[in-house]
Amino acid sequence: MALVWAKDMLEKARDGKYAVGQFNINNLEWTKSILLTAEECKSPVILGVSEGAGKYMTGFKTVADMVKAMIECLGITVPVALHLDHGTYEGCYKCIDAGFSSIMFDGSHFPIDENVAKTKELVAAAHKAGLSIEAEVGAIGGEEDGVVAAGECADPDECKMIADLGVDLLAAGIGNIHGVYPPTWPGLSFETLEKVKAKTGKMPLVLHGGTGIPTDQIQKAISLGVAKINVNTECQIVFAKATREYIEAGKDQQGKGFDPRKLLAPGAQAIRDLVKEKMGIFGSIGKA
Ligand code: 13P
Repeated sequence: MALVWAKDMLEKARDGKYAVGQFNINNLEWTKSILLTAEECKSPVILGVSEGAGKYMTGFKTVADMVKAMIECLGITVPVALHLDHGTYEGCYKCIDAGFSSIMFDGSHFPIDENVAKTKELVAAAHKAGLSIEAEVGAIGGEEDGVVAAGECADPDECKMIADLGVDLLAAGIGNIHGVYPPTWPGLSFETLEKVKAKTGKMPLVLHGGTGIPTDQIQKAISLGVAKINVNTECQIVFAKATREYIEAGKDQQGKGFDPRKLLAPGAQAIRDLVKEKMGIFGSIGKA
């Protein structure tokens, strides 16, 4: 199946009261693990690519070509969207050219007027090229590619202003942060989420910072209009843990060279297990 744009799969998710997972990719192993798990679970999936991960993989074109070829070679039949995560203005244009099916423009750090102007321009460019577009209001806290922000609650009127520009998905800060939540985290602000929903109507909403949010809060957010949940840090944690355990158990043929395919296999399996668990929590299994 060719890449699909995120809008259709997320409108279906919103109506069906489940969420589609966006799992960030950093290399071939992660991509393969996520695609195989989505196929096994008959679940739609979104592959997220940060600007940093795009650079690491030598550029967005390499990523798009790798993902498309992998979908074909693995015989993936479930809907897959390839989405730029927290894109800059320039990064959005690069992904449109590279063949992504969806972009996120993160203008949350600009004054609202500048966020509006740039988002409006990118909505037109994305739609002309057949991509869906996500915008963000209210910076998500934590660290993403070296940019650190405190968790904010978005202003519902600003959300409406951005939603009315024709974006397909909206990420609104509701106290969520990227990375591991500190023990003092007060939880998601459902009051903000309800106000944003009331102002933005049927717009599918996006929850960033999916790592470590308790299941009951995830499911409540879905019941209130969240249709896409982003998970990145948890993939990194399980991958690192499985790799470390493999090495510490002396299974990496220390001193005799090593087989990278064997060394990376436990981490790849750990990502498969995690993605399957998340798809169960998000309710997307069997929805492809
Ligand atoms: P986590 O790293 O907290 O899972 O958040 C991922 C994310 O929101 C990517 O945009």
